[in-house]
Amino acid sequence: MATAAEAQAMRRAIALAARALGDTSPNPVVGCVILDAAGFPAGEGHHARAGGPHAEVAALADAGERARGGTAVVTLEPCSHTGRTGPCVRALAEAGVARVVYAVADPTPAAGGGAAALDAAGIEAEGGLLADEAAAGNEPWLTSVLRGRPYVLWKYAATLDGRSAAADGTSRWITSPAARADVHRLRAEADAVVVGSGTVRADDPQLAVRGPRAEAGVTQPLRVVADSGGTALAPGARLLDGGAPTLVAVADDAPGAATGRLAALLDAAAAAGGHPAGLVRLPRAGTGPGLDVAALLAELYRRDVRSVLLEGGPTLAGAFLAAGLVDRVVCYLAPVLLGAGPPALADAGIGTIGEALRLDVTAVDHLGPDLRLTAVPGPGPAPATATELPATKES
Ligand SMILES: NC(=O)c1ccc[n+]([C@@H]2O[C@H](COP(=O)([O-])OP(=O)(O)OC[C@H]3O[C@@H](n4cnc5c(N)ncnc54)[C@H](OP(=O)(O)O)[C@@H]3O)[C@@H](O)[C@H]2O)c1
Repeated sequence: MATAAEAQAMRRAIALAARALGDTSPNPVVGCVILDAAGFPAGEGHHARAGGPHAEVAALADAGERARGGTAVVTLEPCSHTGRTGPCVRALAEAGVARVVYAVADPTPAAGGGAAALDAAGIEAEGGLLADEAAAGNEPWLTSVLRGRPYVLWKYAATLDGRSAAADGTSRWITSPAARADVHRLRAEADAVVVGSGTVRADDPQLAVRGPRAEAGVTQPLRVVADSGGTALAPGARLLDGGAPTLVAVADDAPGAATGRLAALLDAAAAAGGHPAGLVRLPRAGTGPGLDVAALLAELYRRDVRSVLLEGGPTLAGAFLAAGLVDRVVCYLAPVLLGAGPPALADAGIGTIGEALRLDVTAVDHLGPDLRLTAVPGPGPAPATATELPATKES
């Protein structure tokens, strides 16, 4: 049974883990606090980047000799395998730690089995402390392990009447500076930001993290454009500014003239900026326009992307939703009315009300004048069938 001091240490470990969201892929975020033999905090650490020390090793280094006979409180079951770094179980044993309290079992076959290895090393192990909180902090990585593809968060801004842009296509700025600053937080926490060619043509977005997090040296996300024909990026486009790596996904049958021109633009951007830029050929969607979005996610996963921020626009978001490839939705709802203009979401393969994708709202927050709604797709089909609904339209 975990003690109150261990629960407090776990809360701290969860907060430490969150510091590295967006920086550790393909690894999870992990935080660790070492309590000395008397139960007092002796050291702490977190996993800051793939290839760097694991959280346990960082916390043990911080605790030094005070770890002997103490307890390691860690958000994820310690690993027992040798990957890019040595196994944490061995480091804990060598430091003389007597007990390990962890929140979430490691679901990966390679790294799992830590609890049994701790047992074999004579270290008492207890799992499950604040497991829900710790799992929420690692939602992108845990989802990517479970689904074998990157976690997808679809973010969009809409007016109260559900418009994503004005009738002339302009969408800057529907929401307030507070909401836009929050988008930079989402970008900083993601491994990749994905948009469709329509958004690139209409908005010339930059898609990098800007503001305080960028100044603090955050890992910039990979900027990804789904652009079947390879024609969306014009010379001087902000996506070519070298502020972050850029990947353009084109169809495998895209015309050579367009892809040659695009490759030259991307080569020039890579040479001028500090980040790589390139293109990848993918199959077209089986039905509908554009690329096979599952193939796009598979390609990103292959490149160690474990979390994607899908920034639209409405057409590409519809394709992801139709394919069941959205794990969480964040809507910034502005108290603005437009009356005309493109909708927040285009065709998502839903033809009748019984097929409506219903969401569970998990949070509603005020950001300046705007609302931020966070929701997850519901567990199954809508409870009401068309025949159960009143014949008249909802007023
Ligand atoms: N309010 C917001 O949050 C927000 C966010 C983004 C954009 N916008 C607004 O949305 C408007 C642009 O809308 P949009 O719908 O044209 O943009 P979009 O969704 O970014 O781009 C659509 C294009 O993406 C390409 N694509 C690649 N794979 C696809 C697939 N599997 N399914 C569908 N499309 C795929 C297609 O072009 P190819 O055939 O060339 O590949 C398609 O025409 C602009 O006015 C912009 O300001 C608003």
